[in-house]
Amino acid sequence: MTAPTDGRHSIWLDGGLIDARGPHLNVTDRGFQLGDGLFETARARRGIVIEFDEHLERLRSGCLALGLNLTVSDDQLADAIAELLAAEELDGTGRDDGPVGDAAIRITVSRGPLERRGLLPAGFEDLVATVAIQCWPYVATAAGLLEHGVRAISSTIRRDPSSPLAGVKTTSRADYVVARLEAARASADDALFLTLAGQVSEATAANLFVVAGTTLATPPLTAAILAGTTRTWLLAHAERLGLVAAEVDLQPAELLAADEAFLSGSVAGIVPLVALDGRPIGSGRPGPRTRALRAAREDWIDAMSMAALLPELPD
Ligand SMILES: Cc1ncc(COP(=O)(O)O)c(C=O)c1O
Repeated sequence: MTAPTDGRHSIWLDGGLIDARGPHLNVTDRGFQLGDGLFETARARRGIVIEFDEHLERLRSGCLALGLNLTVSDDQLADAIAELLAAEELDGTGRDDGPVGDAAIRITVSRGPLERRGLLPAGFEDLVATVAIQCWPYVATAAGLLEHGVRAISSTIRRDPSSPLAGVKTTSRADYVVARLEAARASADDALFLTLAGQVSEATAANLFVVAGTTLATPPLTAAILAGTTRTWLLAHAERLGLVAAEVDLQPAELLAADEAFLSGSVAGIVPLVALDGRPIGSGRPGPRTRALRAAREDWIDAMSMAALLPELPD
């Protein structure tokens, strides 16, 4: 398969680039029929996928959890992303509008197409996973959100920490979509999930942190959260950034009483969280620690992309 050459957009599907306008998938694909799949969203800078290994590791452990037969190797996925970023002129060559080729990348893996009806009909073991990769020019987090912060509601949907799928990034996102709808109906920016026991879990597409004094606290993996790559980075870099990291169960009241709070994710980065259910968190305004952590993360992303390119520089 070859990339469209007339300025149309491409996606990478099962081995090559195709026109993003489709048609793409067999209608019997289990990802479409049942949300029987996984996805990863990552950020690329200068054509370098940030924390690519961590995203691949999470994707592969999700494949194990769901029993998906992903036959594409890590190297093939890396080549596919490079091919797609180049076709979309988002590979950091400066052809895109941004100076360094920032992009958002999504890898979607589904169990594959199966004609027979049912959850596990005969033949499901023989399926080979469908793999689709999309990319978009990176859209910077809205200045207004950074300046004023995210106002969240608590979703009516509760998270069950005992579910084996609690930390798996499946394409079955109906709960998350409904939580966002709840937020939109309440004129809020996002929703937070609480666990069945009423502890804070995470936001609809981000992990959650609070700053209290010099402590940087986030709910533990047992709070039905996704093990976010940005969360892992924050825990690993907290000390260097003058904070003491802690994974602790948080009650909504503790969130409200914190000095600052923020959300973390690969694409949007670190974004201040200033209110829950109409009540201010801390001062109700983005705080200095959050700003500093966001800047440190953005600098690190830049440094990582530069470092990854260094071996390719001529002597
Ligand atoms: C539910 C949820 N939690 C947390 C995250 C943050 O994960 P990461 O930092 O790996 O992007 C995401 C990212 O998409 C998410 O969907």
